[in-house]
Order: sequence, then C-alpha cells, then structure tokens
Amino acid sequence: PIKACIFDLDGVIVDTTHFHYLAWKRLTNELGFDITEEDNEQLKGVSRMECLRIILSIGGVSTSADKLYDLAEMKNRWYLEHIYTMTEQNVIAGAVEFIDAVQKAGLKVAIASASKNAGIILDKLNLRDRFSVLVDGNVVNKSKPNPEIFLRSARELGVEPDSCIVFEDAISGIQAANNAGMRSVGIGSDDMLKNAHLVVPTLGAMSLEDLFSLENFA
Ligand code: G6P
Ligand code: MG
Repeated sequence: PIKACIFDLDGVIVDTTHFHYLAWKRLTNELGFDITEEDNEQLKGVSRMECLRIILSIGGVSTSADKLYDLAEMKNRWYLEHIYTMTEQNVIAGAVEFIDAVQKAGLKVAIASASKNAGIILDKLNLRDRFSVLVDGNVVNKSKPNPEIFLRSARELGVEPDSCIVFEDAISGIQAANNAGMRSVGIGSDDMLKNAHLVVPTLGAMSLEDLFSLENFA
C-alpha cells in the first residue's frame, strides 16, 4: 500500500526554474557566452556544482577548482535575489491543496530537493511545517539519478521505498525515483518524462484517485 508521498520542490511546488535560468544566464553572459531555455532543461534536479560543470562545457570554458567555487557562489547570490522577491504567487497553483489532501488521507509527506536553498524557500513561503521530513542538498551529495535522496527520505519517514510515490519534474529525478524502487509521477510533459509511471501537467491536476491508482503498479 501507499504510505507516503515525496515531493521535489523546484518546479513541482514552487516555480523557481526560471530564477535558476536567469541566474545561470547572467553568469554565462559574464563569461562571454549564452545558454537557452533548452539547455536549462538539463539543469533540473542537478546539484549546483554539477550544473556549473554542464554550463561551462556548453560554453567550452575551463577554469581552476577554486574559481569554480566562486562562480557557483556568484550564481547563487543572483539566484537568491530572485528568491527573496517570492510570494505565495510563486507557489504552483493547486500544489498546497493536493499536499493537504494527501495528508488528510493519512499519508506522510516529505520534501526531497537537490537544492541547498530548499529550507530558505520553504520558510519564505511558510510551507516548512507541512513536511515532517526535509532532505536537501545540504545533507545529500549524490545527484539524481542516484536514488540516495529518496531512499534517505523514506528512511526518515519510517516507510519502505516501495510504499512511496515520488513527484518530480526532472528527467534525472524520475530516474532517481525509479532507481529507488518507488513509483514516480512526472510533473510536466509526457514526451519529456517517459519513464514516469504517470505524468500530469501540474500537481494541481492530480487527484487522490490518480494517486491511489498507482497502487496497481506495485
Ligand atoms: C534543484 C533545481 C536545480 C538546482 C538544484 C540545486 O534541483 O532543479 O536546477 O541546480 O536544485 O539548487 P541550489 O539552490 O542548491 O543551487
Ligand atoms: Mg525539480
């Protein structure tokens, strides 16, 4: 039976994807090249340092290890400027309602995010108290598609991986959930998230009925 739902944060509950994009774009422009929205797709669910490596390879730029750290810091400062302007408007429509319904149905809920800013974002939007477990980029270092972040979430929730449903907008995140032996719900487009057990455009389009229909995939 399904006992818990594990939610990715960026692109599932809050629409920070564009903010990440703007901050990375600013960094690439500073370095003399540019990235597109399409490049940004590969950065979803990927840790900050790993994103930086991908971006530098797009621009064909190489740099020393300590410079890498400075560049990541700079991107993060620009990113946080956007984060501090966020309001409840940036919570994806229907997300909180679905999470509430899940809890009312007696299931546990956790956040599993590669972001080191997950706590800041949840606090800013007054969402932190809703989740009994938060596993983020400060405690996990193996990037999705490694299943570590979801396995750790299940362990902290006190449930078995096969009783968890994961909600993810990133291809790497769906892969990580599947690698963890969990069922996955893709948030976004069908052709992008082919490996998910179910795909919906947003959390707001998800019903409890849809959720419990995943029980049949055991
Ligand atoms: C999320 C986003 C990624 C981002 C990562 C790290 O997974 O989808 O695009 O790179 O978090 O975020 P951070 O806030 O730690 O830089
Ligand atoms: Mg995401």
